[in-house]
Amino acid sequence: MAFPRNQWYVAAYGSEVGDGLLARTICGEPIVFYRTRDGRPVGLADRCVHRRYPLSASHRDGDRIVCGYHGFTYDPDGVCVAVPGQRRVPRTARVPRYHVVEQDSLIWVWIGDDDKADPAAIPRAPWLDSPDYVTVRGMEPLAARYELLVDNLMDLSHETYLHAGYIGTPEVAATPITTEVDEEAGVIYVSRRMKDAECPPFYAKSTGIEGRIDRWQDIEYHPPCLYLLHSRIAPTGVEPGPDGDDSRACHAEIVYAITPETETTTHDFWMVARDFALDDEEVSAFLAESNRTVVLQDVEALNLLEKVIAAEPEGYQELSINIDTGGLAARRMLQRMTAR
Ligand code: FES
Ligand SMILES: [Fe+2]
Repeated sequence: MAFPRNQWYVAAYGSEVGDGLLARTICGEPIVFYRTRDGRPVGLADRCVHRRYPLSASHRDGDRIVCGYHGFTYDPDGVCVAVPGQRRVPRTARVPRYHVVEQDSLIWVWIGDDDKADPAAIPRAPWLDSPDYVTVRGMEPLAARYELLVDNLMDLSHETYLHAGYIGTPEVAATPITTEVDEEAGVIYVSRRMKDAECPPFYAKSTGIEGRIDRWQDIEYHPPCLYLLHSRIAPTGVEPGPDGDDSRACHAEIVYAITPETETTTHDFWMVARDFALDDEEVSAFLAESNRTVVLQDVEALNLLEKVIAAEPEGYQELSINIDTGGLAARRMLQRMTAR
């Protein structure tokens, strides 16, 4: 399958992994996730070595999983420690164990060669579990290839058309972008800085700012999985101080984890962390509802696009313009990662 391998992917939110057995397919690999009694998240191949019964449909005995079909019993390293009807456990009775790391409230899994996993290479999103921010989040299944979601998120001019009345205003599509690619670090930056712009309902209602705003959208994409949108909203004319102090602005850190499920389906994890109205539960509920609506608007559009692409012959020639610079850079980087 055409995925960048030897990469870390977000498999779940930390809060999803607990006493239960969570089944999730990542880059075509079925995995079962759970948490040991001492709190460690575990990921094992979700196929019993005996007759392939999904371990996620089985049950736990302490930190072990007992296969629900004939009882092969696995420890958290994937080693089979008991089989029915005989004392001797075959030496090869084990299921692959994945490297799993919990960081910034996310459960990351390594897809690739076992000996190449380096947890230090996982990109950070510290807002998600910082006491200075409040985060709302969700995950929507997408019936489209992950590349379409990358395209979508790298070019926010679509907000004006697809998300009018939520986050889109005329200024988004009308303002040119700047794009920078850091090949060494493997990061793509796309910035759009809007001055004296209309405040969309998403921010007017949540920040309480009345009137026009200066709105910055600074994208930082760490292919393949982590997408950060640093969003700065302030009444027009409120600039960061010369020392960089920007405490009079509102900040929303919008995070997406783009995780391929199969070649044509994707886990679309979305999070909105904010440093304003921290104690206001109504703002949390509003942002959660609004962002979910926005994500579903994208999901609907991308699901439609996937059907179009699946039905047409290879080699369709797209036409790209300036707004696509970031998306094209991301495609090139992903292609290189996939070929490696
Ligand atoms: S399939 Fe798991 S024990 Fe038989
Ligand atoms: Fe969108």
